[in-house]
This record gives sequence, C-alpha cells and structure tokens, in this order.
Amino acid sequence: MSELVKVHRDGNVAVIVIDNPPVNALKNELRAKLVEALEQTKSDTAVAAVVITCAGRTFIAGADITEFGKPPQRPTTIDVIAVIEAMGKPVVAAMHGTALGGGLEVALGCHFRVAAPGARLGQPEIKLGIIPGAGGTQRLPRLVGIEQALAMILTGDPISAQDALRSGLIDEIIAGDLAQAAVAFARRVVDERRPLVLARDRQDKLASFTGGRAAFDELAASYMKRGKGLDAPRAAIDALRWALDLPVGEALARERDKFLELVAGEQAAAQRHIFFAERAAAKVPDLPAGVKPREIKRAAVIGAGTMGAGIAMCFANAGIAVTLIETSQEALARGLDGIAKTYKASASRGGLSPADMESRIALIAGETDIATVGGADLVIEAVFEDMAVKQQVFVDLDRLAKPDAVLATNTSYLDVDAIARGTQRPSCVVGLHFFSPANVMRLVEVVRGAATAPDVLATAIAIGSKIGKVPVVVGVCHGFVGNRMLRRRSVEAERVLLEGALPQDVDAAMTRFGFPMGPFAASDLAGIDIGWRMRKAQGLRAEIADRLCELGRFGQKTAKGFYLYEPGSRTPKPDAEVERLIVETSARLGLKRRPVDGNEIVERLLFPMINEAARILDEGVARRPGDIDVIWVHGYGFPVWRGGPMHYADNLGLDHVRDRLATFAAQTGDEGHRPAPLLARLVAEGRGFSSL
Ligand code: CAA
Repeated sequence: MSELVKVHRDGNVAVIVIDNPPVNALKNELRAKLVEALEQTKSDTAVAAVVITCAGRTFIAGADITEFGKPPQRPTTIDVIAVIEAMGKPVVAAMHGTALGGGLEVALGCHFRVAAPGARLGQPEIKLGIIPGAGGTQRLPRLVGIEQALAMILTGDPISAQDALRSGLIDEIIAGDLAQAAVAFARRVVDERRPLVLARDRQDKLASFTGGRAAFDELAASYMKRGKGLDAPRAAIDALRWALDLPVGEALARERDKFLELVAGEQAAAQRHIFFAERAAAKVPDLPAGVKPREIKRAAVIGAGTMGAGIAMCFANAGIAVTLIETSQEALARGLDGIAKTYKASASRGGLSPADMESRIALIAGETDIATVGGADLVIEAVFEDMAVKQQVFVDLDRLAKPDAVLATNTSYLDVDAIARGTQRPSCVVGLHFFSPANVMRLVEVVRGAATAPDVLATAIAIGSKIGKVPVVVGVCHGFVGNRMLRRRSVEAERVLLEGALPQDVDAAMTRFGFPMGPFAASDLAGIDIGWRMRKAQGLRAEIADRLCELGRFGQKTAKGFYLYEPGSRTPKPDAEVERLIVETSARLGLKRRPVDGNEIVERLLFPMINEAARILDEGVARRPGDIDVIWVHGYGFPVWRGGPMHYADNLGLDHVRDRLATFAAQTGDEGHRPAPLLARLVAEGRGFSSL
C-alpha cells in the first residue's frame, strides 16, 4: 500500500490511515489510493468493520484546493463516498483536528462517526466561494437538521465535537487513543449487529422541520443579508431547499452541478487567491532559518482610546493577559467601560457565554502608572497620532520595559524608523498597525523597520496569528500600504464630487461594487475631523471635507457630515446643504459640473489606488501583490469575491487600467495618475501582477 494510505488489521477490524501532511487534503492520488484500500477491505471476508482515520495533526481538512479550477479527476470524492456506502460492512470515521469540507463529507458517507474531544467539524466551502460538492448539503441536514445545517454551511464556521454530538453529527466523543477506541467502537457495532443506516437514507430530521417553506425562507433570508454580492450563499440555500423538496438522488446531482459551476467561476478563483495570499503574507523569505519568536505571556497597551481598548480585547480574546495603561483615571475608566459594554453586547447577542465574558474581562488589567509596562513581554503603543507624543512614550518604554520586550507602535502613518531611533534598542521596535474596530477587523500590518531584529519580526507575525489576525509584513513609508493607497482614493473621491457627483452617488457606486460602505459614509463613521487635522499638519487641503469640518460637521458624532443623521440613527440621509456647498465650490473653482456615472466613479476611485500599489511594489514596501489584496480585503472591506485590488486589476486587464489612468492624468492634470513604471512594464510584457 502507498505511503498516502496505509491499512492495518486489528483483529476483525481494518484500520485505514490517511497520511498526507500537513492537513490530509484529499488530493487526486490520495482518493485513488483510498478507493483501493476500501475495495481491498470490502472483499476481505476476515474484515468485519472498517475504521477510517488520519495520521498527523488532523483528519482530512477538505479537498486539495490547489486542484480546484483544473478538470476534476476520478475517482472524485463522490466516488469515494459511493464505495463507502456500498461496503456492506460498518465503516467508522474517527476524526481529530479539523474535519472540514470534503473531509467531513467522507465522514458523512460513513455509517458511524466518532471524534476526539478537541475536534472541530465544518463545511467551510462558502469561504472559498463554493458549496459542498460531495453531498454535504444533503447528508448534513439529514443528520443535524435543517437549522444547524444552514448555520454550518452558510457561515462556514466549524462546530466543536460537543456540539456535533448534541446535534447528532457524531455518535461518540472519544478521549484517549482515538484509533484504538474507534476500533473498539466498530467492534461493538458488529457485536451488537447495529443496523447500517446511511445518512442519505434518513428522513427523520428533515421531517421534523415543520416550519415549511415560509420558515425556511425566513431563516435563509437572515443569512443572505451577510452574503451581499456573493453567488455561493444563494446556491447553498437552494441546495438545502432541495434537501426538503427533492428525492435525495436528484438533489445530490443538482448539488454537484452547482458546485462545478461555482468552482469554475471568478468569485471562487478570487476567494482561493485570498486563501493562499493570506497564508503567504505571513512568510518572510529573508528571515534567517531557525529564527524563533519570543514568548509573549503578558502584553501591555498604552492608550485606552477606541484603538487601544480594541487591541487589548484582541489579547484577552486569545487568552493572553494584558495591561491597559492610561495617563488619567478617567480616561482609563472610559476605556475599561467601553470594553465591558462591548463584551456585554456580544454576550447578550449570544456570541459569548457569560463565563467567557467574565474571564476575558478579568484578563484585562487597568493601570495609570506607565512603569507597569515592566511586566510585559510585548508593549503596544496606541496613543495620539503625533510623532512627538509617540517618541516620548518610546523614551519611557526604553527606560521601563524589560530588556527583551518587543516594543510595537500602532501608528497608521508615521515613520517607524524615526520612532525606533529615539530608543537605545531600535532592533526591538516594530509597527503593529491595527484597523478599527481593532477587535473586529482581521488585518494587522506588521511594519518592519530598518533595524527590526528578525526574532522581533517573527514575534510580531506569530502574535498576530495567535490573536486571530491576518498579519501582513510591510515596509516603512508614509501610511504604509493600506493608508497610502487609501489617500489616493480619498483625493479622487473629493475630485469626483467637484466634477459633478454627490456623496450618495459615490457611495452607491462603491457599495454596488461590493464595499460594505461607501467612502463618504465611512468617513462620517470614523470622523471627518481626523483627516482634517492630519491635512492641516501637512499643509494639505480637501475642499469639501475641510469646509464641512469648519462648519462643525465632523460626521456621525455631530449628527452631520457628508450626510445628515436623525437623532439616534446611523443611517446617512442626503443633505441639501451639503449639495449646495459642493455645487458652490465647483463654481468657485471654475469647474463645470457634469454627470459622472457609476462605472466612472469606480474606475476613478480604484485605478489610482492600483497605480499607487504598483509603486509600492516597485519600492519593495509590499513584497507581493497578494499581500496588498489581503490588506484591502481584511482592512478596508474590499469585496473578497473580487480578490482584492491587484487580482481585480489582473482580471480587468492591466492595459485597460493603464489606458484609463492616462486619460485621468490628462483630465485632472494630476501627475500621480501617470501609469507607474511597473504597471507600464507589465503591460508591455503582456503580464499581470500575479506573475510577479
Ligand atoms: N488544500 C490544499 N492546501 C491546504 C488546504 C487544502 N484544503 N488546507 C490547508 N492547506 C495548506 C495551506 O495552504 C498551508 O500551506 P503552506 O504551509 O504552504 O502555506 C498548509 O496547508 C497549512 O495550512 P494552515 O497554515 O492554514 O494551517 P492551520 O493549522 O492554521 O489550519 C486548517 C489548518 C484549519 C485545516 C486550515 O488550513 C483550513 O481551513 N484549510 C482549508 C479547509 C477547507 O476550506 N476545506 C474545504 C475545501 S473545499 C472542499 O473540500 C469541497 C469538496 O470537497 C467538494
């Protein structure tokens, strides 16, 4: 037997062990070997039952995603499951680690399922822009019921072994030696002559869904709200409806067709690109081999504003003790109160158990004495965005922090090298740029300074992953990658207003494109005054935004900004006063207003960003185009199903992007719109960003 699949006998039970590190993905060759092993045990009359289990850290974590987009090869996962279902003797799946996607579908094809206490089981396909394609949409609801299947398939989030047992997905949780106990379980099944019921033949759980079509539609609609623009959620809902409406054979065939259609589509390709780009982003090729991250037992966050409080929560959520430090008791209390409120809101929505809420709050200590940083292995400065203020904090840290502590700044624009130079230990300094709200947004830009030591960089990446973020390593420049690109978009959004559009036109075009919020609504939410103050410090001006601030219109917090907000409402309402201001400003600047359509708005806002990204790549501030895509998807709401700005540009064709930029340069006189050298070079060579 091959190395990928081994079979051994334990009395009358055959144990099939799958061994395809790191995650036992069901690649072509593995499926073929698995079928071979199953056929062999089927015909062996001395074998009364079969256990399927995996070596290494996990049960099968799904199909091999690298094979998607290529012609499917037989035997497919469906073929594997068909062989299992036709075995005529009990087959038991013994799961540990993460049984996901096609892996869980194989288990659903077995007669019985057992799992280790820490196992997690799920159908994450939706996160890859597809639906389960090997029967998951039909067998899962037959075991756990429609509600639970909808939740698992539409969120893609795995459930624990305990929840799996409760819902009927597995038959037993097994502590200790999984394979051995699974063999004992299989033997019991044989001895007790338990009937071999296949999930596909069960109707009881489906029949108990008595709500009918109306209840199903209501449930489905609640999930659709989150899946705006995505094809897969709609397809998953259709497939689950087929479970209720159609004979199982027909429903399975339809599921397969839908899966094949989705997997070949652009959305799935974009989401696969992001899956691999996320994993690549944390890899630093020039980090010397064997560099180990420093151990972080306790963190400290300086500054208990919205950002600092959000960052502290990230650590508490990951079970890491953290000290939140402020200068005054009042500011500290405000920060801690905000944290408690956020956790309570989450608990009241059912997202957090009361016990978890308590333990997280208990992990956050508040202090007003900066000397308490002495107890931390990692200190993150999240004070006011001002170089002098930040440098003073680092002078204090230099004096008070442990000698080997990692000193991080959460600056979103400032020069990390200048901050580091103010200390006696610039090699310990690194940027950790979180995105607001920090406890929600998954991105963290890890800013590598000129002097950042390899193990400090490794620590920043490792801790980023540990607290559930997607860390992306970037270099030093004003605004790093994300905000430097965003600045281009903001300038262009203002320009488009002066040329003829209104905030609601721009926001509608961008939300239609797939952003959760348009740039002006987002500005109102964050506070327009932030950019205003920053521009003033740099001697820059934005005609409309600055005028709004001068009128005291800071956004939602003053109930007026680019939009108007009714008392207690966060819904932006177009405001005639703002329209008048825009029209007057255009006239004052001698601009003749004209209609600007949605497509032009999208191109005007996105292409200059893509151009800036090309410069960022050329300078080496970002290492890979995929890093930039991950930054925009996880930090700025770029629709994941478009794969991020660079993937999107490749799909459009870089020649189109270049030509439009040249037009914009002529139209606006902005030299920044001239196609960047890298962009021009790629077009000349007929290549895309993905070829870099
Ligand atoms: N196919 C190919 N490669 C995979 C993979 C998969 N399904 N899952 C993980 N990998 C690779 C990763 O790219 C990574 O490779 P590098 O080391 O080269 O970067 C390596 O395996 C380890 O992965 P992680 O870094 O993510 O490891 P982790 O321990 O943090 O997480 C995991 C493990 C939870 C399994 C996570 O990798 C994961 O969620 N994987 C995807 C699971 C998934 O989506 N399965 C469904 C596939 S679709 C399907 O199954 C449909 C069908 O059959 C019809």
